[in-house]
Order: sequence, then C-alpha cells, then structure tokens
Amino acid sequence: DTEGQVLVASNRGPVSFTLGEDGSLTARRGGGGLVTGLSALRPGTGTWICAALGEGDRAAVARFGSRLDPADTGGQAVRMLDIPAGTFEAAYNGVANSVLWFIHHLLYQTPFEPVFDAAFEAQWSEYAAYNAAFADALTEDAAPGSAVLVQDYHLSLVPGLLRERRPDLRVGHFSHTPWAPPELFRVLPDAIARRVLLGILGADRAAFLTRRWARAFAACCADVLGAEMSEADGLTVTHGGRTTRLGVHGLGADAEFLRERAFRPDVDERLAALRAQVGDRRTIVRVDRTELSKNIVRGLLAYRRLLTDRPQWRGRVTHVAFAYPSRQDLAVYREYTAEVSRVAEEINAAFGTEGWTPVVLHVKDDFARSLAAYRMADVALVNPIRDGMNLVAKEVPVVSERGCALVLSREAGAAAELGEDALLVNPYDIAGTAEALHRALSMDADERDRRTKRLSAAATALPPQTWFLEQLAALRG
Ligand code: G6P
Repeated sequence: DTEGQVLVASNRGPVSFTLGEDGSLTARRGGGGLVTGLSALRPGTGTWICAALGEGDRAAVARFGSRLDPADTGGQAVRMLDIPAGTFEAAYNGVANSVLWFIHHLLYQTPFEPVFDAAFEAQWSEYAAYNAAFADALTEDAAPGSAVLVQDYHLSLVPGLLRERRPDLRVGHFSHTPWAPPELFRVLPDAIARRVLLGILGADRAAFLTRRWARAFAACCADVLGAEMSEADGLTVTHGGRTTRLGVHGLGADAEFLRERAFRPDVDERLAALRAQVGDRRTIVRVDRTELSKNIVRGLLAYRRLLTDRPQWRGRVTHVAFAYPSRQDLAVYREYTAEVSRVAEEINAAFGTEGWTPVVLHVKDDFARSLAAYRMADVALVNPIRDGMNLVAKEVPVVSERGCALVLSREAGAAAELGEDALLVNPYDIAGTAEALHRALSMDADERDRRTKRLSAAATALPPQTWFLEQLAALRG
C-alpha cells in the first residue's frame, strides 16, 4: 500500500550531530520553525531526507550509514545525504542563506550588495548540484504515487526536477520564509529568477505561511514569467499549460507539547535561577536565533530609548534576551552576534547600578531556559524586520504564567493572526517600539490576561500535526 507513503525533504533535518574531542557524537534538535512543524511527521508514516550539515553529521553518516536509526533521531526515519562539503557550502551558505534568504527578508543594502559575478555563478552551479542530489535521493526512495513534501528556499529546484523524472509523484513545496515582492525578487539575475520560480511551479501545490507571501509569489510569477494568476478556485498560477495550486497553512504552536514540556523540573530550576537574577522586576523577554532578520540590535536600541525617555522604568525592569548562535560560518552573522553583545554591554554600562543589570543576555542555546523565560515574561518582544511566521510570538502566550503583553512586528507573518491582541510595531522605528514597550509594561493585569488568552487561542489554532496533515490532504485531494 503506497497510499500512505510520504517523503519530506529539507536542508536541516530533525537532528544534527556534534563531534566531541574524544570522537563521541551527540545528537541535537536544531532550531527554527521548519523543524518544529515537520516534527509532526510520525514515525512509521514516512522518511525525512535532509543534508549532513557539518563535520558532526558527516561523521555520523560515516559511522552509522546515511539511514539513521530512529533511536538517534527522536523516532523518525531519516536519510541524511552526505553531499560533498564544497557543494553544500556553496548551496547553503552561498546561494540559500546569503542570496535567497537576504532577498526574501529585505536584508540587502542594495548600493553595495548583491553583486552577481563569476563567484556567484560558481555557487549557483553547486546549488543546482545540491538540488539534484536531493532529487536523486527522492527518486530512489519514493514508491509509485507517493506524496513528497519539499521544504524551503534551499530546495527550490527540486519540484521541477521531480516533475521531469517522476510525474507519478504528488509534489508539494512549502516556503517557511516570507516571499519578496517582484521589485525585490527581480534583483536576482533574470535567468536565476526564472529557474527558482519554475522550480517551485514544478510542484502540484506550493504553500506558504500567510496569504501575503503566497500572493507575493504569484505576483513574482506574473511579473517574471508572464504567468497567469487566478483566484477563481483558490489561488493558482498557470504557466506553460500547467497549473500550480497555491496554499496557505499558518503553522501554529503546539499547546499540548509546550504545556507539558514547560512545567518539567529542568524548566522549574531555570525559572528559579532567572527569578533570583531579576528579582521582582518586570521582564521583557526575547528569544531568537542570532539572525539578521530578527532585528535584535534595534530591539536593544528601543529598550535603551525606553530607559532614556521613561526614567520611571530604570531599576524596575530587566530585558532578558536570549540570542542563540546561528549560521556562524557567515562573517556577517558573526559580526551581528558581536554587535548584539556590544550594544547590550553599552546599555548595562550606561544604566546599570550595583543591584540592577538592565540587560541579561544569554547566547548559549538552552531550550529549557527559553521556556522558563516564556513562563516569567511580562512582555515579549518579537520585532523582526520580516519573518515567515515567528513561532516565539505564538509560544509565549501559551505558557505565560501571569499573562504577557506581546510587542510584535507588523512584518512578521504571525501579525496576520495575532494583530488584534498584540501591540504591533514598525520594526525600523526605535521610538515607536520603545513606546509600545512602555504601553506593554503599563498594561493592567486584567487586560493583559484577556489578551493573553485570546493570543493563546489564535496561536494554537493550527498545531503542527494538523498543519502537516492538512497539507498532505490538500496535496492528495
Ligand atoms: C528558518 C528557515 C529554515 C531553517 C531555520 C534555521 O526557519 O526557514 O529552513 O532551518 O530558519 O536555520 P538554519 O540555517 O540553522 O537551518
């Protein structure tokens, strides 16, 4: 019976291994919404194909083979592709994270970057080779008629390749990022812009986290390819005689998992430690990958502005900021990480006193401590420049103990669902963000509580399991 078979393909898989000095391998779950959402792939129902991300993963593949033991992956059948390091580097750090990610998140400073030269062309061929390696693996593993769910900007060419090789398959593509509007997408060289769009249009169904991103994708197809977009029967894009359906699935938080996980002893312990550190002060909490698009530096500047303009908060509030390492192979991420620490230290030097540290910054990843911070938060600050969804905004209200006011960027996908009860901000506007922080800190307990309940309900409307099954049903239907 192949009816039930499903294959998932993504760059990052459910686990990644680190290699110890003694040669030991430790499996860890990676961050980001993609892994959270796809963890809904239940053991026994399918295989998750991903790339070996670094030397730890390569060592694991060398030791255990590319088909990992479900005992090491949190129960899932995983096939980890050992793509040659140079190809992976160019595809992941080069094309995917330095070009496509930048375009979709509006991170370029266009007078200087990007520059599409011979170095980019070389990276692009590696990106194509990396996509072909995934298409090969999927072609090998997919039984006739299976459903294949291809994830994100790393794998935009895969649906097109599968269409040519395996027309029997049902292919879906899902973008976990925003999608750039045409005038920005067209920064890409025309031939590349076409290949990215045509690659995704090779899918039967291309899905996004919000309607805004789906429409932007359709607009790019119209603009770059001259494709026809229609809303007659759901959003569709027709090009070269083929129609691709577009879908929207707004991934939500997993209430059941969070409520169980957030009240275990290891989280209690960290909560006690944080409490000891901040005392009975109010807390403004943020938890992010140290990611350019998360806008952590402007968040700190807004907090500084709050302390400057509203001196009544000095000594009465602590900003608990967790900024976990991400994409450290890229120089600009390393520089950004240093900048976050520098600005936090500056604030502490300018405003700190004997008994009060205004910013408590932690940079070492610790999921239990993140949950502890969610539980204690009076205010959550989520201010990305742009974000596909942002799950932190959805997770905090679910586990908050005393009700938590949410200051949320209007450019996060989550704003489409949480906009009524969050305090929305323009992420570039420091004064506006500072003012929203003040309003959030000043919100009375009843209102906070009411808003938190509604935020929590909206945030959990589409939990990962339903999100996943809904896509599968739509693809097969
Ligand atoms: C975002 C992307 C995912 C990615 C995650 C973490 O959520 O959409 O594809 O996995 O960030 O980034 P990383 O580069 O560490 O996988």
